[in-house]
Amino acid sequence: MTHEGATWLLWLEHSGLGLAMRRSLWLYPFAEIVHILGIALLVGPAMMFDLRLLGWSRQVSVTAMAGHLLPWSRRGLALVAVSGVLMFTAHATEWVVSPVFWVKMSLIALAGVNVLVFHRRTFRSAVGWDAGAPVPPPARAAAVCSLALWTGAIACGRLLGYL
Ligand code: HEM
Repeated sequence: MTHEGATWLLWLEHSGLGLAMRRSLWLYPFAEIVHILGIALLVGPAMMFDLRLLGWSRQVSVTAMAGHLLPWSRRGLALVAVSGVLMFTAHATEWVVSPVFWVKMSLIALAGVNVLVFHRRTFRSAVGWDAGAPVPPPARAAAVCSLALWTGAIACGRLLGYL
């Protein structure tokens, strides 16, 4: 890590927020609880949608499901990001040298790319396979990637405390 990078992380750790996150008995666990609620809200609806793309509940409209479920995933992502950054401030210099942390961030970034590609390309034709029709292979592939990437991010998040 560059000297400037280390300085910035030390500053973050010793900021009022970083200190409060370490010193308060309740703040860190509170952020952790919000993180887990955020994960439930982000990954739960995303996985339900993925399972629909993989052929479960074929009678349910794909576009209706997307309209209903995916805004909840976005709200979950906001909760996860805010609480994740809060926890990060408490031990910034330790997290950045953890390979598991960077694997986790990479999996989240890849999950974001998967969402973008799916919505910009594959989902545009969804009215053609909205209900009772086979889902095209690119949409199924996006669902498999989504399930694997979110599962990997959860596994890395859990492993952060151990590795
Ligand atoms: C967006 C940026 C994110 C940041 C900066 C972040 C950061 C963190 C940090 C610092 C921890 C604390 C680890 C510990 O105290 O042992 C953590 C825990 C965790 N994270 Fe994240 N995270 C983010 C997003 C996500 C996402 C998207 C997921 C899952 C889809 C996720 C899953 C987890 C899990 C499962 C834990 C363990 C919670 C526990 O054991 O109580 N995180 N995260």
